[in-house]
Amino acid sequence: MAVAVIMKLRLDKYLTEMGCGTRSQVKKEILKGSVSVNGEIAKKAERKVDTEKDEIIFKGEKIFYAGYEYFMLNKPAGVVSATEDKKERTVIDLIKESKRKDLFPAGRLDKDTEGLLLITNDGQLAHRLLSPKKHVDKEYYVRVAGRLTEADSAAFAAGLHLDDGLVCQPAELRVMTSGEESEAYVILREGKFHQIKRMLAYLGKPVLYLERVRMGNLLLDPVLERGAYRLLTKEEWQALAKLTEETGKPRNFNKKESDFLLKKEKTSCNPTK
Ligand code: URA
Repeated sequence: MAVAVIMKLRLDKYLTEMGCGTRSQVKKEILKGSVSVNGEIAKKAERKVDTEKDEIIFKGEKIFYAGYEYFMLNKPAGVVSATEDKKERTVIDLIKESKRKDLFPAGRLDKDTEGLLLITNDGQLAHRLLSPKKHVDKEYYVRVAGRLTEADSAAFAAGLHLDDGLVCQPAELRVMTSGEESEAYVILREGKFHQIKRMLAYLGKPVLYLERVRMGNLLLDPVLERGAYRLLTKEEWQALAKLTEETGKPRNFNKKESDFLLKKEKTSCNPTK
């Protein structure tokens, strides 16, 4: 789902935000006469345009404005949950068809964790989804080495206090199969660094595989292959917004704010590696 936010902004900013080029490139194109607004060649980069009403043509192509975008990504192992990285491929590198340059992942999955990740530029929705105060469930499928028991589920339900100092809120561990390796679903309402791996390592059952399958009422689409993504449907977006008690319009966080959110999440815990 892409949400058109109604506002007035400079023509060069509009074009830059919609991926037509850098600020100086689009300014040059405006000077060259390659841009028209409502059928008239635009002469000034600083002229204001209305994101809803005005028709903007850039090099013969109509440009539609998307204020906010919401993608469901089926994250594969091997990519990092960051906006940029000097060495590693990021989840943002996987999103090829975005109009926005300010997308970020709403929360982190470890490099080797797969599954549901929301990619957006709506910082407020992301914040509400991740805030422990909002109690939004995050559900994971997990495979561990060792036999999971009812005692492990009870320990999760009571709230684990780990050796490394992490105090976990009560969580759910639903054991599906139990043997030399075991499978389970884990439901958390918080997201500390490596939390599930740390909780299960503490119980002596190291994680072999981890996949997020749900965030609140947003389910990982089984049709999406690993590494594939799609826009959220309007219904999915509305349900998410309702769940996190959205009252007003989605609001943009600038890059500094989204970096801050990611950093805060990373440093608000006690990494084991
Ligand atoms: N818990 C983890 O240990 N890793 C993740 O990626 C998510 C939750």
